[in-house]
Amino acid sequence: MKSEEGQVHGLDSARLPKHVAVIMDGNGRWAKKRWLNRVKGHEKGSQTVRTIVQSCRKLQIPFLTLYAFSTENWARPRSEVSTLMHLLKQFLVSERKEMMEKGICLNVLGQLEKLPEDVQAKARETMADTCNNTQMTLNLALSYGSRQEITDAVHALAKKVATGELAPQDINEQMISNHLYTAGMPDPDLVIRTSGEFRLSNFLLWQSAYAEIFITPTLWPDFTQAEFIDILTHYQKRDRRFGNVECNMPSDGLPH
Ligand code: IPE
Ligand code: IPE
Ligand code: MG
Repeated sequence: MKSEEGQVHGLDSARLPKHVAVIMDGNGRWAKKRWLNRVKGHEKGSQTVRTIVQSCRKLQIPFLTLYAFSTENWARPRSEVSTLMHLLKQFLVSERKEMMEKGICLNVLGQLEKLPEDVQAKARETMADTCNNTQMTLNLALSYGSRQEITDAVHALAKKVATGELAPQDINEQMISNHLYTAGMPDPDLVIRTSGEFRLSNFLLWQSAYAEIFITPTLWPDFTQAEFIDILTHYQKRDRRFGNVECNMPSDGLPH
């Protein structure tokens, strides 16, 4: 896999994103194309999750956020929601060993308390077991909505103002970032959406202010490591200006 120094799969390892976020979309259409039940699409999609986690780990990308279930997805038919919850629990069970071996720390972004009790318990257990792993952070966005996340942050800040702990004029961008579910993590450099939809669907709206966005027509179950590498290759060719005039690609996020 390694060729020249500093190169993996032909990528410049010094210019890889620190945080990749993925809107894993198209499971239902993948199944429909094959005259299968949507469940089959979700099953196949959960195998792709494995692939992409392994790829990020191998490439030493330290943060990966996967949009697995949105606040709006609760409106889906009950049977589909319960399939997704079941697959999620299965994923947590089957990947625990791998996460421990590979030094992956699992984190949930979203309203964990809204998930079924057994899934919540498994997620909390996995988070506790993996919390000292330092090679990579895997964020699963579950019952996640960016507007809800921002609303939660506003509530937390308003409480501090109400108790006199914080003056309204002292609220700044960093403070808002620190009250989001992603507190302490770098903003995503790269957001990928599969299945060809050109929208963010309430995903990381604050954090993606300067993310590079890639939309691929590939349906999530068909997404491969090769396509991921291809997207990273294109990402490395993009000129990230952050509102400035010269080519600028800081490794630690936005210039201040
Ligand atoms: C993504 O695939 C998985 C979730 C949103 C949970 P979809 O289920 O949205 O698949 P499509 O968009 O119907 O093809
Ligand atoms: C976004 O996909 C949510 C996830 C991938 C979990 P959706 O399929 O729910 O989004 P829309 O409905 O196409 O916007
Ligand atoms: Mg969809």
